[in-house]
Amino acid sequence: MDKKSPVYEGKAKIVYATDDPELFVLYFKDDATAFNAKKKAVIEKKGELNAKISARIFSYLQSHGIGSHFVKALSDREFLVKKVDIIPIELVIRNIAAGSLCKRLGIEEKKAICPPLVEYYYKRDDLDDPIFSPDHIFFMELCDRETLDRIRKQALKINDLLQSFFDERGITLVDFKLEFGLDSQGNVLLADEISPDGCRLWDKETQNIMDKDRFRKDLGDLIPAYEEVYRRIEGDIS
Ligand code: TMP
Ligand code: ASP
Repeated sequence: MDKKSPVYEGKAKIVYATDDPELFVLYFKDDATAFNAKKKAVIEKKGELNAKISARIFSYLQSHGIGSHFVKALSDREFLVKKVDIIPIELVIRNIAAGSLCKRLGIEEKKAICPPLVEYYYKRDDLDDPIFSPDHIFFMELCDRETLDRIRKQALKINDLLQSFFDERGITLVDFKLEFGLDSQGNVLLADEISPDGCRLWDKETQNIMDKDRFRKDLGDLIPAYEEVYRRIEGDIS
């Protein structure tokens, strides 16, 4: 598959066109950002680990009926993906209270959330991705009720699958962010990446932080933690 010119460069990835108009190449960079890129660094090997972890998770989800843009890994840090139009809504699914939820609402950290909480954020860097409600989404015509309902149900199904996937590997899935897109036939597909950059992952026994909070909160090296996540999830899909 020939990689052509970049069509979009984000904070952690570059999207390239290919000679097939229905397919893109996704390249994972080593750039790390937090707080809407107010904090920045280049962390060698991060892109490679995120690509490998994400490929493993997309394959697992696909084997459980979750359609996504992921086609296959092309190299250590490149995916072939289906071209989708990203719906500008970031869904955050929370199983345990942490991060902005605690800050915003004064909720005690580590409080269990059952049933899981689904939040919607407007994907707009220039506005710092504000939280918003389904009514805002419909008013702004970002998607219709039926599509949002489908996305929400899919997000909760993904949460169930990922919670047990990580739990079997000694990791607690605290919360995570998902994005969805529409393919040329109008199908809603899971998109972007699922990696420790966009998930909170805690070691089940030690509660050690194995995700990008290490960088956000200056908790020490990130790469050994991402390597440990990869070590625990590689191998046969179950
Ligand atoms: P938060 O507690 O800061 O709102 O983050 C919730 C989850 O979403 C956490 O697992 C990190 C992820 N996330 C992203 O992937 N991108 C973002 O821009 C933000 C703010 C959070
Ligand atoms: N993804 C956001 C950024 O790049 C924020 C975060 O992940 O904390 O700045």
